[in-house]
Amino acid sequence: MLSNHASNEGKRTSLHGTWSSRMAFILAVTGSAVGLGNIWKFPYIVGENGGGAFVLVYLICVVAIGMPVMMSEILIGRRGRRNPIATMSLLGKEEGSSRHWQWVGAMGVLAGILILSYYSVIGGWTLAYVIKSIGGVFTGLDAAAVAADHSAFKSNWLMVAACHTIFMGMTTFVVARGVERGLEQAVRFLVPALVLLMLVLLAFAINSGYFAEGVRFMFTPSWDKLSWGGVLIALGQALFTLSIGMGAIMAYGAYLPEETSITGASAVVVIADTVIAILAGLIIFPLVFANGLDPASGPGLVFETLPLAFGHMAGGSFFSTVFFILLAFAAWTSAIGLMEPAVAWLVEQFHRTRSQAALSVGGAIWVLGLGSALSFNVLEDVQFMAGTIYDNVNYLSSNILLPVGALLITVFAGWVMCRNSTAEELGGAGVTYKAWRILARFITPIGILIVLINTLRPAIGRLLGS
Ligand code: PHE
Repeated sequence: MLSNHASNEGKRTSLHGTWSSRMAFILAVTGSAVGLGNIWKFPYIVGENGGGAFVLVYLICVVAIGMPVMMSEILIGRRGRRNPIATMSLLGKEEGSSRHWQWVGAMGVLAGILILSYYSVIGGWTLAYVIKSIGGVFTGLDAAAVAADHSAFKSNWLMVAACHTIFMGMTTFVVARGVERGLEQAVRFLVPALVLLMLVLLAFAINSGYFAEGVRFMFTPSWDKLSWGGVLIALGQALFTLSIGMGAIMAYGAYLPEETSITGASAVVVIADTVIAILAGLIIFPLVFANGLDPASGPGLVFETLPLAFGHMAGGSFFSTVFFILLAFAAWTSAIGLMEPAVAWLVEQFHRTRSQAALSVGGAIWVLGLGSALSFNVLEDVQFMAGTIYDNVNYLSSNILLPVGALLITVFAGWVMCRNSTAEELGGAGVTYKAWRILARFITPIGILIVLINTLRPAIGRLLGS
């Protein structure tokens, strides 16, 4: 997918070449964006945060914060053409500021490692659910039986840890071979297939008799159910689902040809990602209400509602198998993006081979991930701050590291980089450029700051003992 024939008249080029086409780039970024975040995480946090108001805040965050951050990340990546740490250092100096901007890149590398440590555990669940589906485990089960099956699965630590190991192994394998091969093909087939299957499920949800209730839950804002904490979660999710705030998209942007429109590519990805998340909600919530389940039941939500739906469908085992295979693929293409910044950095900085770098990063993430895997069973009672180990890693990465990363990235693009540099990357000084610049300089940073300060105020107050 990456070709080494990029023309580079006087321009900086990436060691790794450039994407073969605009489509290749869009597919890679979409592959990274569409993942467990859309289908597993989005519905369960909507459920935990009361529905409509949360969804509205999420959509505002996607447009006003997600879109400008994504454009900033791609333009920084393309201008620097290195791994995120080296790019931030290089551009920091070049734009007359400081090499210390590299710490933003370093924070992103860390965020990717932390996210992947628990992402891989849930990715492992999808693999187990493929096997369960093939075995027809869900056929005819009622809601209580599906929930009991899920909780028995989670409490089996050996099983959860084994699935995590397999998922991490798959991810390390692809990253070691180089992301170029296979990824484009996988995504080209995956996203349309996923949407198609989701439409089948949507038809099932519409027929459940509770579709209107699901729609009402998702789109009627009841503001009393939303706290500042909820707003921070919506912001974190907008960043998480678009894969921004941690350098993955910056790394992909480094391979983008000069002539590709950053604004156009970003818009396509943002729309595709949002449609898939909303579709997931429209499938899950009618099923939740039709079966008297609790929308706030947490990370198990999708693993309880969908098997239930499949268990009562003609050809359910088949559809269930296909669905979990697609979900596993979606998780896989995202996991690759999470690992890429750390691996690219090891390769460029320490002259490791790709395989060596992938093995060390993959190994470290596997060990960290055991903490999350065990927090659903043997370490369930180890609780502090946000909850279990899994809850804490999840909270720290999505709700703290991604917002802070996104804030610094947009401040860099909006304030530190000079107008000429950003205008050149975004194609001139037209209306879209002006809109981006206003968002990136003011709306996005101020929005992120307000949310962060309001949520962290009580915690900081407690720390300071006031
Ligand atoms: N966007 C991915 C998802 O929604 C997760 C991800 C985050 C992937 C950050 C890469 C980088 O599942």
